[in-house]
Amino acid sequence: MGKHKVKVGIIGGSGLNDPDILEGRIEHKVSTPFGEPSDCLIEGKISGVSCVLLARHGRKHDIMPSKVNYRANIWALKTLGCTHVIASTATGSLQEDIAPGDLVLLDSFVDRTKSRESTFFDNSYSELMGVCHVPMDPAFCPETRQLFLEAASKLGLKMRPTGTCVTIEGPRFSSKAESLLYKSWGIQLVNMTMVPEVCLAKEAGLCYAAVAMATDYDCWRDKEGSVCVSEVLATFKQNVAKVTKLFKEVVPMIGGHEWDSTIDDLKSLVSSGFMSAPQ
Ligand code: ADE
Repeated sequence: MGKHKVKVGIIGGSGLNDPDILEGRIEHKVSTPFGEPSDCLIEGKISGVSCVLLARHGRKHDIMPSKVNYRANIWALKTLGCTHVIASTATGSLQEDIAPGDLVLLDSFVDRTKSRESTFFDNSYSELMGVCHVPMDPAFCPETRQLFLEAASKLGLKMRPTGTCVTIEGPRFSSKAESLLYKSWGIQLVNMTMVPEVCLAKEAGLCYAAVAMATDYDCWRDKEGSVCVSEVLATFKQNVAKVTKLFKEVVPMIGGHEWDSTIDDLKSLVSSGFMSAPQ
């Protein structure tokens, strides 16, 4: 076993918050220097591996994407000892060949958010002072992504191995011009929550991977009407079992893997991002 004890944070998007996936559950109410997370964190095990489940929008799904305290969520998972975060997210598809219900393992993002606290390094917390620039390539943890690919293949589950997601501010959906613009940029998916979650996980030194589920075709397609909430929720509900199965498969694989160099490298990446005063 490596020096880092693996613990997997699971951030459930709309519809993937079922605590029954964890055995021996205990609830933690965690406060952070950045405020309160979306809800209690539920700790338990999947196949003997420690996990912590957090509902991104709260268990009552009453926190809208712009108001999710992403910093508190990531900090709370880190505080409970998580080394990894695996997340699910509902997304609109910007490509004909990604149909509602399809899964995509994200590998990059485009940030179109406007009003979110998106860094821990804004000098608001006395223990994290200084100017820090963290690289966002690769945005998602390559080793964790590789295990996801192997898990999907073991299960015979169809999952697109790469995909870029543009995160919009919301809560409104995109206009047709916006949707066509993102599509013309070659982006595959659109959502409202991936940024800044992925950025903060990296700043916190957590191995982060996210599985996107396409729930709709947004509004770029002439032959289809515009996306609506009931469509998003219905498609997510119909396909959530696939994501749950995938997460249950990947967690023991993460638990059985050696992470020392990956975690140490992430830590030094963040430390080397600090600007030092000119000599
Ligand atoms: N989440 C699910 N579908 C979406 C869409 N079309 N746009 C933004 N976020 C979404």
